[in-house]
Amino acid sequence: MGLLIKNGRLIDAKNNIDQKCDILIETDKIAEIGDNLSANNTEIFDANGLTVVPGLIDMHVHLREPGFEYKETIYSGTQAAARGGFTSLCCMPNTNPVADNPGVIEFILSQNKKAAFVNLFPIGAVSKGLKGEELSEIADLKSSAVVALSDDGNPIENPELMRRAMEYAAMFDLPIISHCEDRQLSAGGVMHEGYISTRLGLKGIPRTSEIVVVARDIEIARFTNSRLHIAHISCKESVELIRKAKSIGLKVSCECCPHHFTLTQEALINYDTNTKVNPPLRTQEDIAALKDGLKDGTIDCIATDHAPHAEEDKDVEFDSAPFGIIGLETALGLVVSELVDKGIISWKQLVEKMSLNPSNILGLSRGSLEKGAVADITIIDPKQEWTVRKEELVSKSKNSPFIGRRLRGKAVLTVVSGRIVYKA
Ligand code: DOR
Ligand code: ZN
Repeated sequence: MGLLIKNGRLIDAKNNIDQKCDILIETDKIAEIGDNLSANNTEIFDANGLTVVPGLIDMHVHLREPGFEYKETIYSGTQAAARGGFTSLCCMPNTNPVADNPGVIEFILSQNKKAAFVNLFPIGAVSKGLKGEELSEIADLKSSAVVALSDDGNPIENPELMRRAMEYAAMFDLPIISHCEDRQLSAGGVMHEGYISTRLGLKGIPRTSEIVVVARDIEIARFTNSRLHIAHISCKESVELIRKAKSIGLKVSCECCPHHFTLTQEALINYDTNTKVNPPLRTQEDIAALKDGLKDGTIDCIATDHAPHAEEDKDVEFDSAPFGIIGLETALGLVVSELVDKGIISWKQLVEKMSLNPSNILGLSRGSLEKGAVADITIIDPKQEWTVRKEELVSKSKNSPFIGRRLRGKAVLTVVSGRIVYKA
C-alpha cells in the first residue's frame, strides 16, 4: 500500500520549492508531486497546516552500541530519532570495541536492520582504537560503507597523523570530521573558562583550545587539498576562521549543535551535570556569532551530538561527570523555536542545514523531495507547542538540560523509504 500526503506545505531547498501540494509515495520512492493527486489502495495523510520536508538527517550522534548499551542502543537511539523527525543518522565510532574496522561497522548495520526505524550511516575511526597513534585501515572502512572518518570525542592531537589521515581520506573521497580541541589547553577543564567558572570554582576550558585546532586543521586541509568537516563549533572565532576558509575556496564545512546556540555558561550555575558538554556552553557573544554563521551559510549543518549518558553516570559531582547532552528529540523544536520563529533562519535554511547539506557532505543521496527520490519525509506541525518531558523521551538516557522547556514545532509523521516509522 502506498501513502498519499495531501495539502502540506512542501519545502524542498534543492529545487527551491515552497508551495502547497500533494506527494504520492509508492513502495519506497516518491512517485508523484502535484496538485489534487489521487490513488487507489493508498493510505491518505492530511497534512493541511503542516510542513512537509525531506527527512531530517543528523550527521553527528553517539548510539553507544556496541559496548555501552546501558546508555543507549541502536534500537532506542534510532527510535528517538524517528520521534524527533530524523530519518537518517550518522553514528560516531567511540563505541567499545571502537568502530575502526569492518567487523564493527557490519555489526552496527546488522543491528540497525533489526531495529528498522531510520537509516544509519556509520562513521569510521580515523585512528585505531581512537588512540591517535596509528591510522585505521581506511580502505577497508570505505568498503564497509562508512560515510566519513572521525575520532570524535577525542581530538587528533598529532598534526602529522592528521595530515596523513586527510591525504588517505581524500583518496577514498571521505571527509574527515574533526573534533577540535587542544588537550593540553583544555586539560582538567569541565566548563567554559570565564567568570562563571571562577565563581563556581570549576576548572575552565579556554576558548582557545578549540580555536587553535580549527585553525590548524583548516591549514592542513588547505595543504592536502582535502575535505574537512568541523564538528560542534562553539566559539565566535571558529565561525570567523571557517568563513575565511570558505571565502578562499577551501573544502571546509562545519556544524553546530542546538545546545550551543541556545544555552550559555550561565546554565551551569546550579552544577547540573546535564549542562556538562564538550565543547562547553559558551557566551552570549558566541551564540550571536553562531547565529550569524547559520544565517550567512558559514555553518552548513545543525547536528545534535546526541551523547546519551545514564543517570548513574551523570549523578555524580560535576568534575567526575561525563560530557554529553542528548539531542534527538529536542533538536527540531529548538531550531524552530529559537531560529525559525525568531527570524534567524528561514524554513528553506532549516531544510538545508538539517537535511540537504548533511546529505551532500556525506554523499547520502537524500535531502530533497522530487519524483524518483527515496521517500524519506518528515512532516512537522510548525505551530504545535509542547513541553519537553523526561517521561516521554524514548532515548534510553535522559541527560537533557531542556527538560521542562516549552518548545514550538514538532514532528508529527516520520517516513523512511515510504514506511511510517513514527506517527504522533
Ligand atoms: O559532550 C560530548 N560527549 N562531547 C564529545 O565530544 C563526546 C561526547 C560523548 O561521546 O559522550
Ligand atoms: Zn560527538
